Amino acid sequence: MNDNVAAIRAMAGLATPMTLRVAVTLGLPDRLRGDGTTLEHLATELELSPTALELLLNHLVTLQIIEHTPDGYRTTDFGATLCTDADNGLTNFLHLEMAGGRAELAFADLLHSITTGQAAYPRHYGQDFWADLTQHPHLRESFNHQMTHRFRDQIPQIITNYDWSRFSTIVDVGGGHGTLLAAILAAHPQTHGHLIDLAPTATQAHHTFTAHQVESRAQITPQSFFDPLPKGADAYLLCDILHDWPDPQAHQILTRCTEAAHPTTRILIIEPIGGRHAATEFDLAMLTIFGSRERPLKAFQSLTAPHGLTLESITDLTPQRALLEFRPI
Ligand SMILES: C[S@@+](CC[C@H](N)C(=O)[O-])C[C@H]1O[C@@H](n2cnc3c(N)ncnc32)[C@H](O)[C@@H]1O
Repeated sequence: MNDNVAAIRAMAGLATPMTLRVAVTLGLPDRLRGDGTTLEHLATELELSPTALELLLNHLVTLQIIEHTPDGYRTTDFGATLCTDADNGLTNFLHLEMAGGRAELAFADLLHSITTGQAAYPRHYGQDFWADLTQHPHLRESFNHQMTHRFRDQIPQIITNYDWSRFSTIVDVGGGHGTLLAAILAAHPQTHGHLIDLAPTATQAHHTFTAHQVESRAQITPQSFFDPLPKGADAYLLCDILHDWPDPQAHQILTRCTEAAHPTTRILIIEPIGGRHAATEFDLAMLTIFGSRERPLKAFQSLTAPHGLTLESITDLTPQRALLEFRPI
């Protein structure tokens, strides 16, 4: 095999990514830490086929995730990157029973997305991502956790790189567990916030607001953002919301924002901007899972223009995301 063929096989083969995902789902990197254990013990403990488990473990040895011991296997230092307490987001991304890892499997139907321009997720799982989260509370929980984790390092930059103090009232539309809104309110004691999200997620935001000691200035309404929003806020914040939806639904969300707005309201969109921040790989994930994409600036302008919104400023908040500030014409 020449080098190019080998390189492409290494990129395209599914055995390795699935081995890593199954290993994380079974908790093998955690279980094999320290002295590790024997094949027989592990197979009995986890109720797995010993013959098949050995094949999986041997491939994990090839990948240097685990290594042989005199009588079994143990996790290497490199493999410890996959342990739960590494707290690097990889568990959510790879675990087949968590929202992120499960969603990635919809890539098996990428051809459908490329052919139709629509999400592969509903074809793969029989319903869209959000309906799946509603049906399986453990998926919603893992998704919320993933969302909170992804912003852990970015929130300080989001707070300092934009002047949030201009707003007395902010409605955070699809605000998740409230981590961003809580940080804004904590930094700006004159500002009041109102978080909107679906009930099971919105309810959890109480804990976040209490932990940040901003609960007296933070209101929560469990509702859909496809329903009318609280009226008259100074700003409506859509952080990583529109990229979860194809254009028709993105228009519906913007309609809800603009009908609630007053003439000096600002609509604030925080997202990776296609061609500016977004990675091509992640762009395909948004297509496959949501039938959407990381919209480039021009697409945002086309999306917002029918709502009478004018782009006032673009602020690069972090290396991953910009804030687009829109005002009613
Ligand atoms: C990608 S997360 C972003 C969360 C938050 N804005 C952030 O940046 O951390 C998308 C959010 O939209 C919420 N969501 C999805 N469908 C919704 C709906 N119909 N109405 C309100 N919220 C919804 C989800 O529960 C989730 O919290």
